[in-house]
Amino acid sequence: MGKIQAHNSESIRKMFSALSSRYDLVNTVVSFGTHHGWRRAAVAWSGARSGHRVLDCASGTGDLAFEFERACGRLGEVVATDFCEPMLQEARRKAERRDSRVRLEVADVLALPFDDAGFDISSIAFGIRNVADPVKGLAELGRVTRPGGYVMVLEFGRSRIPLWGRAYQLYSRSVLPRIGGLLTGERDAYEYLNSSSSSFPYAEDFLALAEQTRYFDQMEFRPLLGGIAYIYRLRRKEGAPS
Ligand SMILES: C[S@@+](CC[C@H](N)C(=O)[O-])C[C@H]1O[C@@H](n2cnc3c(N)ncnc32)[C@H](O)[C@@H]1O
Repeated sequence: MGKIQAHNSESIRKMFSALSSRYDLVNTVVSFGTHHGWRRAAVAWSGARSGHRVLDCASGTGDLAFEFERACGRLGEVVATDFCEPMLQEARRKAERRDSRVRLEVADVLALPFDDAGFDISSIAFGIRNVADPVKGLAELGRVTRPGGYVMVLEFGRSRIPLWGRAYQLYSRSVLPRIGGLLTGERDAYEYLNSSSSSFPYAEDFLALAEQTRYFDQMEFRPLLGGIAYIYRLRRKEGAPS
């Protein structure tokens, strides 16, 4: 794969197809396993509980969806979607192994095939910065979530703690693409994933992006590991966006 610069749906889909079989392994190695805790924190903050209906978009290999399933129990329902079939194939294998009832479907975040307000919670983890039009993606998440329900977003940010921020920047710029490259043969993809993280809006700037959708009446964030990543919680307001 050549240098990845184009931020369009087709190049993103191709990139994740090429990474799919090693995606989980790289995640665990480069994050030292911490990403599981981040997902658990997002589910806990969402207030997901038995009987809830949840949609996880850009679900990839399904880790956040499986975490939601744990919270929603047998009475709930979790739907996981992604527009990259090979990533969902990995999720399918994992679902079989753990006897999961998560429903896996191919769908583009930019045109979700679901009715308005049909889910208690919708989510997207480490996906929104890869979506060609993030504001439209967030608006779609808002549309399918019921008033009073939450859109949960997990995404990389930048730490404002001086030494820590510099150290992590060095790690993510130099070490992470090397490890990703060694494990997958797709170093360019991990260089892109790093550069897209370091240019995407985070904290208040991400909330300003979400505000543009006019779907939310309460928007909050919590930094993880000093700001390396953030959890955003956006409450779906009553009525249509004005
Ligand atoms: C970095 S992975 C994150 C996967 C998973 N959510 C996780 O936390 O590990 C980004 C995912 O976003 C998906 N994606 C990007 N743009 C999308 C879109 N417009 N519609 C659906 N999925 C999309 C990719 O196919 C990929 O699986």
